Amino acid sequence: MTKRIHIFLALTLALLVGAVSVQASEGGAGLMSANINLRDQASLQRGAKLFFNYCSGCHSLHYMRYSRMARDLGLTRKEVMQNLNFTGARFQGHAIAAMPEADAEKWFGKAPPDLSLMVAQKGPDYVYSYLNSFYLDPTRPVGWNNTVFPNASMPNPLWELQGLQVAKLSTPDSKGKTEVIGLDLARPGSMTPAQFHAASNDLTAFLTYVSEPVAVERQSLGIWVLLYLAAFTLLAYMLKREYWKDVH
Ligand code: HEC
Repeated sequence: MTKRIHIFLALTLALLVGAVSVQASEGGAGLMSANINLRDQASLQRGAKLFFNYCSGCHSLHYMRYSRMARDLGLTRKEVMQNLNFTGARFQGHAIAAMPEADAEKWFGKAPPDLSLMVAQKGPDYVYSYLNSFYLDPTRPVGWNNTVFPNASMPNPLWELQGLQVAKLSTPDSKGKTEVIGLDLARPGSMTPAQFHAASNDLTAFLTYVSEPVAVERQSLGIWVLLYLAAFTLLAYMLKREYWKDVH
């Protein structure tokens, strides 16, 4: 019996180590780490406010209804319709960008992608880093560039909050080429760097919630599912003993 317990413990440990190392290898090189807590409703509310004020002009959340968001984020219908819905959409309607896609493509060369599943696709660290990595670049059509997504055709939507970043360039190599080796804050914005990190983290948290709205519910449901399975296993075991009693 103790041997079996040892094997069981060893297997559990191996699974845990495996899970942790998979998590650690996600994210990729050079990304900043987002710190997402989906149970922090205040953070999600601040993130939603930033999204609808600074992003929803260009980006849609095709899979998100205002009514669902109100329920999950602990907001009233009135709060959502007054503070987050700027397109006149219905409360039950989806969060669709104000800008028609065809126009956006004409203006930016690239239609802004739907952001409903962006975090599920690229991870919270990517989105958080992307929002922090814009810098002025007069050679680009929109005047901005990004170290996480080079030559992105999106202007920095949060520049008033973050301030203006410029690239720190390496010394030119033999062919006269330079590389961006860092970013400097050339002009401060209305937020300090620490405040901006917190704000862009809230925004990333909101987009993480949007990419899987049931995540919070699922975690608390999971505990009940495990309890049910444990109870059922016990029941099945007792039933088996009862049946086999007569067989012998
Ligand atoms: C003025 C229009 C505009 C606004 C405002 C805007 N974006 Fe974008 N965004 C774009 C465009 C255009 C692209 C496509 C860029 C490309 O593929 O070159 C894009 C792409 C993205 C991407 C995908 C990057 C990738 O790796 O493919 C993310 C994430 C994103 N935006 C987040 C945001 C967030 C968050 C906000 C609000 C803070 C925001 N955007 C505001 C126009 C906008």
